[in-house]
Amino acid sequence: MAGARSAAAAPAPAPALEPVYVWDLVVRLSHWLIALSMIVLTFTGIDIASPFLTSAKTGFTHGYVRIIHMYAAIVFSLAVGVRLVWMFTGPRRSGWRQFVPASKSRLVALRDQILFYMLLRPHPPSCPGHNPLAGLSYVAVFGLYAIMILTGFALYSVSAYTSYMKAWDVLLPLFGGAQGARWLHHVTMWLLLVFAVSHIAFALLTSRSEKNGTLDSIFSGYKFLPRDRKAGDD
Ligand code: HEM
Repeated sequence: MAGARSAAAAPAPAPALEPVYVWDLVVRLSHWLIALSMIVLTFTGIDIASPFLTSAKTGFTHGYVRIIHMYAAIVFSLAVGVRLVWMFTGPRRSGWRQFVPASKSRLVALRDQILFYMLLRPHPPSCPGHNPLAGLSYVAVFGLYAIMILTGFALYSVSAYTSYMKAWDVLLPLFGGAQGARWLHHVTMWLLLVFAVSHIAFALLTSRSEKNGTLDSIFSGYKFLPRDRKAGDD
């Protein structure tokens, strides 16, 4: 009797997990270069827009802030460029299909993820890489990166002194001139900050609820997934 009671109280055995290599080195490095350069670009960009580091007595401070902005802009643009190329040349889990739901199984997983967020499904679909809704939202984020890079280079052309940097002035008419480019560059920064805050919040939430190492995975590359997951889940 006592034995039966203790058996009933025993917790269900935890599913056997295995480490799965999800994010390769290029994905992790470009992620961190983009994140770190964005912090520098935001800090220096806000000072360029409305100087808080500079005063009449601080000499060349604004010049240094601009130089740091430009070096960080080079890191940012290259990291975004490398990640875009990697989407078409890298391994499967870094590929564009992780972002655009182009297969039936990704479309079904996208629907299930939305149902999960609407509390109409008890569990999220099993996706070792990006969940399809997150992947789709990153398409919009890459669009914002493109706006930052194009408006940034257009703005640079105004004060550039080399012909290859002046050449970016062809972009200015697209934004209605330098003031339009400046406005778009500034507003898009705030959109990216909204994304950054929600991205960190969702990463923390998913890591806590799924308990599969989501947060660690962007450092180590590994998630911990059930050994018995379906073959199609990969
Ligand atoms: C996430 C990335 C970036 C952020 C958050 C950012 C932010 C900003 C902000 C807030 C400003 C001030 C705009 C204003 O005057 O209201 C600015 C100016 C500027 N940014 Fe960026 N930026 C980014 C990427 C880039 C890139 C990729 C370039 C490419 C060259 C660039 C080049 C410039 C230039 C040339 C200016 C004007 C500097 C001046 O007028 O002295 N930025 N940026």
